[in-house]
Amino acid sequence: MNGEPGSVEVARDGDVAVVTLRREHKLNALSMHMETQLLTALRTQEVRTSRAVVVTGGNTVFSAGADVNEIRTLTPDAILAYYRNSGSVYEVFAELPQPTVVAVAGYCLGGGLELSLAGDIRIADETAVFGFPEIQIGILPSSGGVTRAARTLGYGRATDLILRGRRFGAHQALQWGLLTEVTNKGSHIRTALTIAHEIAEHDPLVVSVTKQVIHASPDASQAASLLLERLAYAVLNRTTPAAHAHDEVKQP
Ligand code: COA
Repeated sequence: MNGEPGSVEVARDGDVAVVTLRREHKLNALSMHMETQLLTALRTQEVRTSRAVVVTGGNTVFSAGADVNEIRTLTPDAILAYYRNSGSVYEVFAELPQPTVVAVAGYCLGGGLELSLAGDIRIADETAVFGFPEIQIGILPSSGGVTRAARTLGYGRATDLILRGRRFGAHQALQWGLLTEVTNKGSHIRTALTIAHEIAEHDPLVVSVTKQVIHASPDASQAASLLLERLAYAVLNRTTPAAHAHDEVKQP
């Protein structure tokens, strides 16, 4: 590892936790050290007690992906072990009970794009550049990227992007549904915080259960998914304020 290994900062903005990748001199490349730092960050009290989480790489770059210096030398055994260790961070992030907003500026490539896809909502400023460069170095996205890109963008678009390895900008990403919003340069973190605070104002149990139902639905049959929605509604309606009660629609 060359020079300073990088860190992951955690701060609180009221009910919202802000997690920042800090390895700018290496374009926030996700070394195993950085992934371990991120795992630790996601387990801090600040994150665990938050109602929403913003993840960002700061004002110039989100992440140029996995650390290419590390992945070149990994044996098959080491790769499988990696996903039981620091490589588990993509799933840990995806499975956080509270909603997550990813705020992107600059490069968001490879593992950086995979990390962003593991978030619930993605926004970017106009400098953002996305892409899956893995094919150019003889691998494929393997930290959930294939699965999540296909679900988020559709199979055709995901296949095109992964097999061609081409880059695309923020407005294209918005049009394809990767992003929900594009901001002016440098406004992405502020906008992400606004979205996170907006969600954080809602009942945290309702938000968390709803997130989990949304996550579970693509893997469930339609019947199971509909049942899940209705069971979640039934549970939430008993446990949230009376404002939710509509006596006129209650059935025996
Ligand atoms: N892993 C490790 N180091 C990386 C990195 C990565 N994925 N991406 C960038 N860096 C490092 C560079 O080695 C360089 O370090 P140095 O200053 O010590 O030489 C520093 O970050 C800046 O990168 P540089 O390539 O000089 O910036 P650039 O603006 O010319 O190019 C990119 C930016 C993103 C196009 C280029 O860095 C790149 O292609 N990175 C690899 C992307 C990739 O393949 N990611 C997926 C891996 S699966």
